[in-house]
Amino acid sequence: MPQSFDFSTPTSTGSTPPSEFYDGSDAVSSYVPVISSLSAVYSKSALPAQEQRWGSLVALFRQLYPNEDLTFIARSPGRVNLIGEHIDYSLFDVLPMAITQDVVIAVHVGGADGQIILNNTDPRFPSRIFNIADLKDIEIDATVHEWSNYFLAGVKGALSLLPLAEIPSMHCLIDGRIPTGSGLSSSSAFVCAALLAIVTAVKAAAPHSESFANAVTKSDLVQSAVVSERYVGVNSGGMDQSASVFGVPGHALRVQFYPELKATPVAFQSDEFAFVIANTLVVADKHVTGPIHYNLRVVETTLAAEILANQCGLGPLPIRDGFGGTLRGVVEAFKARGVDIPGVMNKVNEVFSKPEGYTLAETAQLLGQSEVEITQKYMTRFPVRFERFQFRARALHVLEEAERVKKYCEMLNHAPADHSDGDGEEKYLRALASLMTASHRSCRDLFDCSCDELDELANLAVTNGAYGSRLTGAGWGGATVSLVPKDKAVEFVDCLKKQYYLKRFPGISEDKINDAICITEPALGSAVLVGNYNV
Ligand code: ATP
Ligand code: GLA
Ligand code: MG
Repeated sequence: MPQSFDFSTPTSTGSTPPSEFYDGSDAVSSYVPVISSLSAVYSKSALPAQEQRWGSLVALFRQLYPNEDLTFIARSPGRVNLIGEHIDYSLFDVLPMAITQDVVIAVHVGGADGQIILNNTDPRFPSRIFNIADLKDIEIDATVHEWSNYFLAGVKGALSLLPLAEIPSMHCLIDGRIPTGSGLSSSSAFVCAALLAIVTAVKAAAPHSESFANAVTKSDLVQSAVVSERYVGVNSGGMDQSASVFGVPGHALRVQFYPELKATPVAFQSDEFAFVIANTLVVADKHVTGPIHYNLRVVETTLAAEILANQCGLGPLPIRDGFGGTLRGVVEAFKARGVDIPGVMNKVNEVFSKPEGYTLAETAQLLGQSEVEITQKYMTRFPVRFERFQFRARALHVLEEAERVKKYCEMLNHAPADHSDGDGEEKYLRALASLMTASHRSCRDLFDCSCDELDELANLAVTNGAYGSRLTGAGWGGATVSLVPKDKAVEFVDCLKKQYYLKRFPGISEDKINDAICITEPALGSAVLVGNYNV
């Protein structure tokens, strides 16, 4: 039974400040950092609360597994998306950042029971035990909403990287601090943490072997987590897993999916602003509402791409992950024919001229395929319910949002020269934030993924001094992100407390409000902590 182990991958230690993990080189191909101090993970302001939390976690671990060493702790954070909503699965760039709130998994490796034992600090998630031998070809029942499915998705991801025989017994304690269904991607943080825990357990069990686990990079983790999270029944893109694993302190991440996965850390040109996350407290359970919300939007945007290709003679589109063509494929095909983005938007308006949308029969006609064929290809693995597809509105949102991301990134890269004088800086921040507000309107009006509470919070944000505000993540509930002047951030949070939380939820506790709204900062992505558990 290993007490400690060497990682053959590059490591950083102890007192390293978080930003050292980003040295300006490629954030994608390197290995997940292995560290021995919480100060290497969390910012100074977050540290005291995190030390307390990790201390309780370690104490509970020792209580649950009194005779077992704590071999390591894996962690992966949630994310907030600054701009670029519902366009990752059309293969357009997005701009999220990792946040402090995370999922951590404390693991004892070894033992002869051949089991993975899962305990969770949250009583909503009861203990589960799996025999490792039974995990070969395991089917995840996506029709059941079961928390351990997300861990099993991590197992599936791990099995795409290494053989089952290498997975040792693992006795785990999980602690997640990302509110679930809040648009901050607790699901991907959990899947990435699970996958990282398994890969790390394999290394720990056989430190000197030639195991594939030793070669697993951040990029491998992301790509297998993206594919494996879909086993829970949501046909998601790759933004959340990318942000969770690649996160760089102090930076947003421009995540590109075309022509291949790439994540570029983007620094902010101003420190005169803060991002504030405010949770509506409307839980958006993507797994449950997938057929009428998330998965339906993936089908609508995919079919819109396929129809455009068919109607405009673009030829077959490259297929995303075995599912279908993408609007990015359409844009690239048009570009090769000399048609620019406004030109593509004109085509969208021409081809999808019916304001009431399209029935399945009309869709079949536009695609030149039978209804049965379409249902089988696009709506069987991820079933959907609809009356009419809204191809025009969905496609226009995707194309316009992709342009907003480009502008946002350009602005981040080239702040105006007059930036240092007060007015110039405010103008700059207002222009940046107006793209976020425009994104919210498009999510609300064209993509139909907002809700009354999100609209109210986004409006309240702007009337209370935010430069701009928008829903973040999938929508239909969950959280907003607002860009606010730094010196007004605390006052801003106070106003939202009074005008949203206390008004909508009279009697709500101070603790609940403080969990729901916070000033946030870009945080480190996945990490493994070894050695120092006396936090
Ligand atoms: P979004 O995808 O909109 O950003 P989200 O990821 O929080 O938000 P879902 O994708 O619906 O929301 O995933 C939430 C589910 O993830 C929970 O219902 C639960 O099954 C699982 N989950 C998240 N965190 C934990 C945790 N700490 N412990 C156990 N299960 C968790
Ligand atoms: C969820 C998905 C992501 C992305 C967002 C919307 O978080 O998991 O892949 O599509 O919704 O931008
Ligand atoms: Mg999720």
